[in-house]
Amino acid sequence: MERIVILTGAGVSAESGLGTFRDTDGLWTRYDLEEVATPEGFTRNPGLVHEFYNARRANTLAATPNAAHVALARLERDWPGEVVLVTQNVDDLHERAGSTALIHMHGVLTGALCAACGHRWPAPRAMNMSDLCPSCDRAATRPDIVWFGEMPYQMDRIYDVVARADLFVSIGTSGEVYPAAGLVEEARMAGAETVEINLEPTRRPGLFDEVIAGQASRAVPAWVERMIASKGG
Ligand code: APR
Repeated sequence: MERIVILTGAGVSAESGLGTFRDTDGLWTRYDLEEVATPEGFTRNPGLVHEFYNARRANTLAATPNAAHVALARLERDWPGEVVLVTQNVDDLHERAGSTALIHMHGVLTGALCAACGHRWPAPRAMNMSDLCPSCDRAATRPDIVWFGEMPYQMDRIYDVVARADLFVSIGTSGEVYPAAGLVEEARMAGAETVEINLEPTRRPGLFDEVIAGQASRAVPAWVERMIASKGG
């Protein structure tokens, strides 16, 4: 039975009120990513970085999954084959919608990481520089987020599921950030069919066999319905 790998980006959470990065009024039009999303920025001004992620954590806690998150969880449940979600998003809306086969390649807002010893623990609502690591007792707490210039998490596992995919679907991502943006090429090389669902098609000619333009909260449930119906579900 077909193995489906789905890559999601900020566009899937946009209708839950969580801003995207590169759209009009996106986060990177309002914040300097060098300051808030690089290890160097954290060294220079950890307080500013904590402020930025504390605000994003508060927004995420206040948000709820939308129909796109719910439909993807349903696909995982009702699809007779394997469905794996690889998300660039650091919010927990996929989990709260019921998805379990999920890889957070850019980390999670709900996690804290000790920059000194590598220990991980659940993030407090608001993190600050004086927070001590519960393991090594040093004040080197950072959000468990992958910053620019750092290697995303679980890349071996991600390349493995992409190499075995029969169908690769990209949802709500601009395809501008690597290595995530290169996964569709990996999938094509492995012989997978490829589909893009995005508000604005990303105009990467030759990469997608099918392009569905539209809002995720509408286009994803319709696509999931179609998929499940194709298997008599
Ligand atoms: N439904 C579907 N797609 C949408 C919607 C929506 N409601 N709203 C916006 N989009 C699309 C936009 O057209 C755009 O192509 O989502 C995409 C969002 O692109 P980006 O803002 O670049 O976000 P993303 O691709 O997830 O960014 C990748 O970059 O900043 C880093 O680490 C961060 O994970 C992030 C990575």
